Amino acid sequence: MTITLRPITGDNWIECIALAPTEEQQRIGFVSPNQLSLAQAYAERWWQPYGIYADETIVGFVLYGRWPATGVSPHHTAAEPGVHHVLRFMIDARYQGRGYGRAGMERVIEQIKAEPGAHAITISYDPSNTVMARLCAGAGFEPTGRLIDDEIEARLSI
Ligand SMILES: CC(C)(COP(=O)(O)OP(=O)(O)OC[C@H]1O[C@@H](n2cnc3c(N)ncnc32)[C@H](O)[C@@H]1OP(=O)(O)O)[C@@H](O)C(=O)NCCC(=O)NCCS
Repeated sequence: MTITLRPITGDNWIECIALAPTEEQQRIGFVSPNQLSLAQAYAERWWQPYGIYADETIVGFVLYGRWPATGVSPHHTAAEPGVHHVLRFMIDARYQGRGYGRAGMERVIEQIKAEPGAHAITISYDPSNTVMARLCAGAGFEPTGRLIDDEIEARLSI
């Protein structure tokens, strides 16, 4: 099984918005619905949406980007110009627990590392999200001690 990232385009956006985490994860609000993330990527052009693919099947979604120096709304209180941030990351409920999240995060990190000047990646997750905490720790992220909108911020220097 090969895990890759593919840009969300006219060919796969409908499959992308059909993806959802478990009902419990939705109820707690671990991640926004993918249609909201695609709308946000339209309005805030620095965010890049990708499908996480297991071979030819879309199994998840990631939205990340590099904070620009200008044009960021004040509601993004933790924005750090030049730093990459993973704003959304999810694996569809049907495909969780198979290592796709871990492999998808590895692809995200590789892809960001390949960008000239990339030097740090941040992410945040709900304090009760033990699976995401484990996934991030395994990928090398370390908690910064800061809370972002009541979520634990973690950072990876690259
Ligand atoms: C967090 C999420 C992306 C993980 O994806 P996944 O494909 O299920 O994760 P993986 O199978 O790669 O497992 C990642 C790690 O968590 C562990 N894990 C997975 N499911 C688990 C579970 N139900 N209970 C405990 N540990 C679990 C795995 O063993 C693995 O740890 P390891 O690398 O030390 O072996 C997925 O649960 C999800 O989409 N959740 C809802 C959205 C969300 O919370 N996003 C994060 C917002 S920032």
